[in-house]
Amino acid sequence: MSQSDKPTSANSPEQQHTAGTQVSESGESLWGGRFTESTDQFVQEFTASVNFDKRMYRQDIQGSRAHATMLQRTGVITQEDNQAIQGGLNEVEKDIESGAFQWSVALEDVHMNIEAALTAKIGDAGKRLHTGRSRNDQVATDIRLYLRESCDQTALQLVRLLEGLLELAAKEKATIMPGFTHLQTAQPVTFGHHVMAWFEMLLRDLERLSDTRKRLNRMPLGAAALAGTSYPIDRQITRELLEFSEVCENSLDAVSDRDFAIEFCSASAISLMHLSRIAEELVLWMSAQFRFIDLPDRFCTGSSIMPQKKNPDVPELVRGKTGRVYGNLMSLLTLMKSQPLAYNKDNQEDKEPLFDSVDTWFGCLCAFADMLPAIQVKHESMRHAAKSGFSTATDLADYLVGKGMAFRDAHEVVGEAVAHGVKHEIDLADMSLQQLQLFSEQITQDVFDVLTLEGSVNARSHIGGTAPAAVEQAIERAKVRLSTAYKPS
Ligand code: ARG
Repeated sequence: MSQSDKPTSANSPEQQHTAGTQVSESGESLWGGRFTESTDQFVQEFTASVNFDKRMYRQDIQGSRAHATMLQRTGVITQEDNQAIQGGLNEVEKDIESGAFQWSVALEDVHMNIEAALTAKIGDAGKRLHTGRSRNDQVATDIRLYLRESCDQTALQLVRLLEGLLELAAKEKATIMPGFTHLQTAQPVTFGHHVMAWFEMLLRDLERLSDTRKRLNRMPLGAAALAGTSYPIDRQITRELLEFSEVCENSLDAVSDRDFAIEFCSASAISLMHLSRIAEELVLWMSAQFRFIDLPDRFCTGSSIMPQKKNPDVPELVRGKTGRVYGNLMSLLTLMKSQPLAYNKDNQEDKEPLFDSVDTWFGCLCAFADMLPAIQVKHESMRHAAKSGFSTATDLADYLVGKGMAFRDAHEVVGEAVAHGVKHEIDLADMSLQQLQLFSEQITQDVFDVLTLEGSVNARSHIGGTAPAAVEQAIERAKVRLSTAYKPS
């Protein structure tokens, strides 16, 4: 590429850079004496990650504090050096939080920006911080610390959403609606039961998140670049200070493993798939064709041209955001595919998809946790829809089985009754006893107990059934299950 063909910035124009040189504040090249020419300006910006990894500054500082303390306790650095490092890191953290910190692309990433700022503040002690450590184990540790917090934040929103669903289910436990298969009216169900199906889907997401957290809570520090370090480090000290449950057992694996990020992206992709299914139902149900629910205006928008419109933007957007979260999972799987051990620069590409999944999942959960308990249910429309479409046909067949008929014969008899109903536009429950007896003499007056919507749902009162009584018990069990589903270990 000739000089004139080169873009001036390797990144998007929206990204604000502090363009700089390849040298540190102290005027020394960061790589020491190995290089004879400076990094190409374009390459510098192309390889830098600070614009997106600076969001891990707290975890980077947290890791450095623990590392320095460990170095002191094992006698690798002096108490004075450690004190200077701790004090300096506090100042750096304050500078970052006040906005005074100057991030530099020339310093490539969050790790080197913070280390350079520390050294600028405290001198030689700052240069000793990186003893027995590499950016490879440092970044792997930072991401795990960051993601561990993200799991806890995500879990809070997921629990809030699940609690909202329990409230909604309790309120609507006896509300009758049509249940669907193939999106065709199938059998009457209670809306509370439908909401509890959503609960089950999202409770599994919470369990998956808990499981993800368990496996990511292992500490890479000590692996150094790839082979470990010759200093007399004690990884258990650092592990305890950083509250990891275990240390990563193998140094090569420790610096190259990104399974935990893939697991988080996978958990978020599955959860977004669930949210998109709920979203789709809300969108359908809010349409003039269904009219099962309404959403409060604050979750909707209007149309600039059609005055009558009220659009379910929030569920639509959640449904749409599922795409990018799937994409993030694919990015990470593909990023890691065929990578030889140990660390490769490819891994720097793990952060943007991961952070996007963290933000997107979190945002969608917040939106749903606010919105779902506020659904306005149109009880009469739901009931009306459940009454049409011969939703109690199975109940009539079961009734005939109760009178001694084989199920296949009963299925046939009811099929004829339904065909009659379709032709004359009359529901089974609205036919007279005489009319029904034309299809089977075994039908008597008590048939109307099972042809009603209440009769139909109340008959399904076993565990997992749709009867209001079964839903009530399911909600009680769900409260206990919810309280133990997420285990920050
Ligand atoms: N910014 C790098 C990353 O995110 C940090 C590790 C760099 N290590 C290296 N050997 N170049 O992966």
